This record gives sequence, structure tokens and C-alpha cells, in this order.
Amino acid sequence: MPVSAKTMTDGGFFGRRKGHRLRAGQEAMVEQTLPNLRVPDGDISDLAALFPLPVREVRMEIGFGGGEHLLARMRAEPDVGFIGCEPFVNGMAKFLVQIAQEGLRNILVHDADAALLLQRLPEASLSGVDLLYPDPWPKRRQRKRRFVSPERLALIARVLKPGTMFRFATDIDDYAAWTLARTAATPSLRWTANRADDWRKSWPGWVLTRYEAKAFREGRRPSYLVFERI
Ligand SMILES: C[S@@+](CC[C@H](N)C(=O)[O-])C[C@H]1O[C@@H](n2cnc3c(N)ncnc32)[C@H](O)[C@@H]1O
Repeated sequence: MPVSAKTMTDGGFFGRRKGHRLRAGQEAMVEQTLPNLRVPDGDISDLAALFPLPVREVRMEIGFGGGEHLLARMRAEPDVGFIGCEPFVNGMAKFLVQIAQEGLRNILVHDADAALLLQRLPEASLSGVDLLYPDPWPKRRQRKRRFVSPERLALIARVLKPGTMFRFATDIDDYAAWTLARTAATPSLRWTANRADDWRKSWPGWVLTRYEAKAFREGRRPSYLVFERI
């Protein structure tokens, strides 16, 4: 089913694209390796076939930052293909250096707004989407910049296979409530929690990300929300 004009977003990335100057090795990775690992512009109807090795399913992480969680998943499940989305070039460069050092190949990347890729992906093509510590935009007038919106949740639901999960973590209580309210209004996503520990404790295989470490240091308590695509 094609994405209707109503569910399309025009893309919107409000964070930083570039930080400090890249080191020579990182710059070479961005120039030479990144173009080969990008999800191609053309036909992506057979996602698994785009990976350079056989993969049993494909999952996505949106805004992987330093890549701690994504790298751990890639190492633990070499037969799963991952799509890592990160528009911040310094994060992407560091990640590319790391996967080259470790020889990890179960990866494709997208270095722009993840919503632009979600719009292009075939319906029910992913077996999981993780959105971990998205930029909080705590000020009221900036909240419309948050990644989670009804349109983006619809895009995520569209690309997930029924029975698979959209996982979300935040250390900002207001963002947890924001996401719960918007997923509750998305009929194809069901919050799976039954008891408080289900959102207070991280899921199996979780690794501490840099952003989460900062949240703990500053005394904030994260919420881990898991939604099933029904
Ligand atoms: C607060 S950081 C968290 C990074 C990482 N997930 C962690 O837990 O350490 C949010 C990340 O999302 C990325 N990001 C922001 N908007 C995005 C978008 N529209 N699509 C993909 N990534 C995005 C930012 O560049 C940033 O690296």
C-alpha cells in the first residue's frame, strides 16, 4: 500500500548535523565507506537483499548517537540486518570507524531524518524499531520538534510487521507521557506494559548509552516503553 499524502511528512531534523572537525580517519570513512553503506536511492522493495550477507530479518534504530546500543545488537545478532539512522555526522563517523575495526557487516545506514526513510520503506518490512533517548525539546514552544508525532508513529506502525515491537526510551517524564498519549491514539500500536517494572526496567539486551549514563548521573529516571504492532 503506498503511503498516503496524509501520512507523509516532509522530513524535519532540528539537531546539529556537524560538531568538531573530523579526524582524518573519520573523514575518510565518511567519504569512502558511507556511500556504500547508505540505503540506496532506488528500489528497496526487498530490504534483506540490500545487505552484503544473508539476514533473517531487518530492524532499525533511530538516532543512534554514539552507537552503543546499535553496536551491541549488531554483535549479538549477526544474522539480523540493522538500519542505523543518524544525521549527526560526527556520530556517524565514529560509528563507521568502529564497525570497520570490528568487521561488522550486518548494517545499512541513513544519515538524514529517519522519517524520510520510513516513508520509503515497504509496508511491514521491519521486525523492530528502536527510538532511544530522542532529543527531548523540553521547552513548550519547541515540543513540536520532537520526533514522536502522530504522523511519525503512523509511519513506524506502517513499516513494522504485525507482532513486532516499537521500543522507546526517555529520561524526560513529560516525553514519556507525550509518547503514551500519542501511541494510545494510534490504533495499530499497543503498549505492552502490565506492571510498573515493565517501564521502569530496561529490556533484555539493553546496553547503557552515553545519553542514558548522563541521565543517571544527573538523577533522572528513565522510562522504557514497548509497543506492539497489532
Ligand atoms: C539525545 S541523542 C540520543 C542518542 C542515543 N540514542 C543515546 O541514547 O545515546 C538523540 C539523537 O537523535 C538524533 N536525531 C535527532 N533527530 C533525528 C531524526 N529526525 N532522525 C534520526 N535521528 C535523529 C540526533 O542527531 C542525536 O544523535
